[in-house]
Amino acid sequence: MPVILLTGGAGYIATHTAICLLEAGFEVLALDNFSNSQPQALERVGQICGRQVPLVKADIRDEAALERVFSEHQISAVVHFAGLKAVGESTEQPLAYYDNNVAGTVTLCRVMARHGVKQLVFSSSATVYGDARQMPIREDAPRSATNPYGQSKLMLEYILADLQASDPAWRIAVLRYFNPVGAHPSGLIGENPNGVPNNLMPFISQVAVGKRAQLAVFGDDYATADGTGVRDYIHVMDLASGHLKALQYLQQQPGLVAVNLGTGRGYSVLEMIKAFSDINQVAVPYQIVARRPGDIAECYADPSLALELFGWKAERGLEDMVRDAWRWQQQNPDGYCS
Ligand code: NAD
Ligand code: UD1
Repeated sequence: MPVILLTGGAGYIATHTAICLLEAGFEVLALDNFSNSQPQALERVGQICGRQVPLVKADIRDEAALERVFSEHQISAVVHFAGLKAVGESTEQPLAYYDNNVAGTVTLCRVMARHGVKQLVFSSSATVYGDARQMPIREDAPRSATNPYGQSKLMLEYILADLQASDPAWRIAVLRYFNPVGAHPSGLIGENPNGVPNNLMPFISQVAVGKRAQLAVFGDDYATADGTGVRDYIHVMDLASGHLKALQYLQQQPGLVAVNLGTGRGYSVLEMIKAFSDINQVAVPYQIVARRPGDIAECYADPSLALELFGWKAERGLEDMVRDAWRWQQQNPDGYCS
């Protein structure tokens, strides 16, 4: 039975995707170096799906380790999540980001090619659109980067396009995620940030559960309806099913596609706070502070290409996102160590 390799397999998006793939009848193998995750996350996936996910501890930059994995398993495709993703950290440690994300992906692709495995789904990000002028954002919008993290994703988009152009046997889906939030409805797996969360939803959850006193809202003077930043939040289970659809698409279609995974609907920071506290009946104290450097006013997808190519669209709404995020947070106040 061919196996789908999930790099970064113990991470937030990969664990949710593993569930979708297992439920659709795929065999999966997870590979992770646990730089930002724990093996317990995959044990929880096993609990949800009734079977354990095989797991290899390895780094994607370790070519010899990847050689062993590809020799020992019948891998048919790779969903490549492994990467560092903290924007602030990337500005302080650019080399770590280029090494891990760019060099790591090049190593992975080299080993894949050697083993004739040429189907790849790649985790890109809406960050490649920089400060987009036109909303909603279509895939053909100009791309740019404002920090080393974004630059690493942009470089990889170019590298993968060059790779596919050099050898048409490659089938590559570049998925540009908007803002993944929420958790599996079981409450067993979810986002488990290290230290102080950078992103809005985990911060709101930690305030609601009492781990942090209040949320700092970064600016209320943007040119948006209520002055706070607007983003396209997408439920992580919708994002997960987008990967399944992308894999099924690649089985039918050669070439390279770059596709937005978003809902097409933006919500402001204040709307997110209100939804979280109204639906979950919990207080989320907040204070307006200065803008966060580098932030943009609004960012939301035109998700129509994903519907056209993959037959995929997001099904879950804001209620599901905040309810599921809260269930995970309440059941696991200290993440997988709870
Ligand atoms: P995550 O940190 O939870 O998952 C990434 C996983 O990759 C972690 O388990 C980490 O330990 C592993 N990893 C990192 N470097 C590795 C290496 N060299 N070798 C092996 N494993 C390694 O993050 P996530 O939110 O699940 O993100 C998955 C991917 O999606 C990342 O590439 C990220 O850049 C991208 N992405 C995430 C978001 C988001 O908001 N979460 C948005 C856009 C794109
Ligand atoms: C983040 C990433 C970006 C990635 C995108 C999609 C950062 C700096 N950027 O940006 O690279 O492409 O997710 O996953 O991590 N906010 C607050 N208070 C907080 C946290 C956030 O007010 O404590 C606001 C922000 O100003 C923004 C919104 O909430 O308006 C969402 O922020 P965040 O979750 O960090 O996502 P992005 O800004 O889209």
